[in-house]
Amino acid sequence: MKWLSALKKSAIAVVGAATVLSLATPAQAAQPPSANVVGGTRAAQGEFPWMVRLSMGCGGALYTRQIVLTAAHCVSRTGNNTSITATLGVVDLQSTSAVKIKSTFVYRSPTYNTSTGGDYSLIKLASPAPASIPTLPIATTNGFNNGTFTVAGWGAATEGGAQQRFQLKAQVPFVDDATCEAAGGSYADLIPSAEICAGRPQGGVDTCQGDSGGPMFRRDNNNAWIQVGIVSWGEGCARPGKPGVYAEVSTFASAIASAAGRI
Ligand code: ARG
Repeated sequence: MKWLSALKKSAIAVVGAATVLSLATPAQAAQPPSANVVGGTRAAQGEFPWMVRLSMGCGGALYTRQIVLTAAHCVSRTGNNTSITATLGVVDLQSTSAVKIKSTFVYRSPTYNTSTGGDYSLIKLASPAPASIPTLPIATTNGFNNGTFTVAGWGAATEGGAQQRFQLKAQVPFVDDATCEAAGGSYADLIPSAEICAGRPQGGVDTCQGDSGGPMFRRDNNNAWIQVGIVSWGEGCARPGKPGVYAEVSTFASAIASAAGRI
């Protein structure tokens, strides 16, 4: 856990971890037919309109008109920060219709890297996103922490692979905490109240380096998308028996809402 959590602490991990972790096991040879993220397919323009790409190499989701929810490990500290560019409104990062807005402030979870966990952070944008771009509501109860989840992002499409120009999406099933902890290695240190796991037992489909901070989401009882997780970490990508680990959004929903009201 030591080397992995050390990597997780820095945005450099986005690139660095891909290289380091790829030494152990090559990506799965067998890819599911439908699915690339790893093992997914291209998202359609407008399919997940609240998806955000952040210039440090992370994903995110538009939480309010002027705040992006991402991972704590994608940022270094709470405070004024004008160095991040958010790209919104496009699946193709090179599209001329991309909306690009700079950051003004970063709020990093104060409980990240404590025993409480909480791999989330908020990026305040210099101006509100256009009204045509909807926000993604977050789950405020644990009632949606089950079933099949959708993940999306511009991260590596294979373990150790390159960042993607076009957004990819994939579906991953919920993995309960006991099963996730039993995956050994870093998984034994899972924080069950703060982390939620997802992935197929046979591997092949997963988020990967550069997807960090992006949302894991599903449909709620009204068939609307709701965010249940934030891409956090995994041992390699899409390895059999090694689920993706996500920040458990419902646990931090009130902390996120209250922080968003203060920044
Ligand atoms: N920490 C990675 C990042 O910074 C995300 C890794 C997710 N890994 C996984 N196997 N689901 O982009």
